Amino acid sequence: MLKVGVVGCGNISGIYFDNAKRMSPIEIVACADLDIERTAKTAAKHEVTAYSVEELIHGDVDIVLNLTTPESHYSVAKAAISAGKHVYNEKPLTISKQEGSELLQLADSKCVRVGCAPDTFLGAGYQTVRKVIDEGGIGKPTSFTAFMLCPGHESWHPNPFFYYEVGGGPMFDMGPYYLTALVHLFGPVKRVSGTTSKAFDQRLVTSQPHAGEIAKVHIPTHVQCLLEMESGVVGMLITSFDVKAHTLPHIQVYGTEATLTCPDPNGFGGQIMRGKGSDWEEIPLQFPNSENSRGLGLADMADAIESGRNHRASGELAHHVLEIMHAAHESAEAGQSVVLNSGIQPAPMPAGLNEFELD
Ligand SMILES: NC(=O)c1ccc[n+]([C@@H]2O[C@H](COP(=O)([O-])OP(=O)(O)OC[C@H]3O[C@@H](n4cnc5c(N)ncnc54)[C@H](O)[C@@H]3O)[C@@H](O)[C@H]2O)c1
Repeated sequence: MLKVGVVGCGNISGIYFDNAKRMSPIEIVACADLDIERTAKTAAKHEVTAYSVEELIHGDVDIVLNLTTPESHYSVAKAAISAGKHVYNEKPLTISKQEGSELLQLADSKCVRVGCAPDTFLGAGYQTVRKVIDEGGIGKPTSFTAFMLCPGHESWHPNPFFYYEVGGGPMFDMGPYYLTALVHLFGPVKRVSGTTSKAFDQRLVTSQPHAGEIAKVHIPTHVQCLLEMESGVVGMLITSFDVKAHTLPHIQVYGTEATLTCPDPNGFGGQIMRGKGSDWEEIPLQFPNSENSRGLGLADMADAIESGRNHRASGELAHHVLEIMHAAHESAEAGQSVVLNSGIQPAPMPAGLNEFELD
């Protein structure tokens, strides 16, 4: 069992603390946050030791679970890796591609692992989709469409301004779930062609406590891209904060024999439908972990460290996804497609495991 220290005791930390209690390869033993009061409350609630970030990183933990906000992902991970700790970041790996590759190189030189969310692709939904496709259940997969369309977050998020600043936008916010699922299904992306637009220069915040304030929009809020995988599969992903309503699926995969309508990749379970002609049938989920199983990727990394195998929600995978998201924007600005040269397809989960069990 590897000892985990949490840095960043915000909204998302609770589900990691809860799920870790049921994951045998890991034990969360400590937490830290810039907010000392929050650290103390979290430590008391989950019966772990409260430290400063510095103490935690240099203390008796094997893995630093970095649940800070994206602008701190790089600095916290770099400090932890430099101290010889394995690191698992919330998404995105980092904001810039250069920071991401620097972390991976540093980890290599220190012989430690880097893992990164999202790990939703390890859940029952996308593991079943992968099995159906790999076993020829839709014939040869040839293409896909993927849609993350919404009106933006200023009607519900307590602090929505960052979504409209550099580093925000629909692709960097939600793209990791979609792209990680797609790379898991079809392997690395080799070429990206993007176009972007912006429907509004400013947005009226209606959520509390900032209701009535204006969010200035500094980035594209509609980002669409054509993706060409090394495997020959081609598809398109549209992410948008400029769509008021729609009826499109999250991800649909087209094969030579059938079509699969896939679940929301921002979840672990969901419904899978297979269509041939006008006939549609539901495919039952064939794997465990259909509820919110955040932390599964972390447990998989700990298990992999112990056994020496590769872990699935890896820094390399997250870095490839980061490259694709940047490429969509760069391609739109340059007016030409961007070629990528890295990438990795994670191994599927083995059949026959129980909830939270790993290979
Ligand atoms: N909340 C969600 O539903 C959700 C879902 C998926 C992914 N995420 C990701 O999880 C991460 C955290 O999100 P959240 O919603 O918990 O945010 P949050 O703002 O609620 O919490 C982040 C915490 O990190 C702390 N922090 C920031 N920089 C720090 C630093 N340098 N050192 C120590 N502590 C630091 C903050 O004080 C805060 O307590 C983000 O990367 C986000 O993209 C969140």
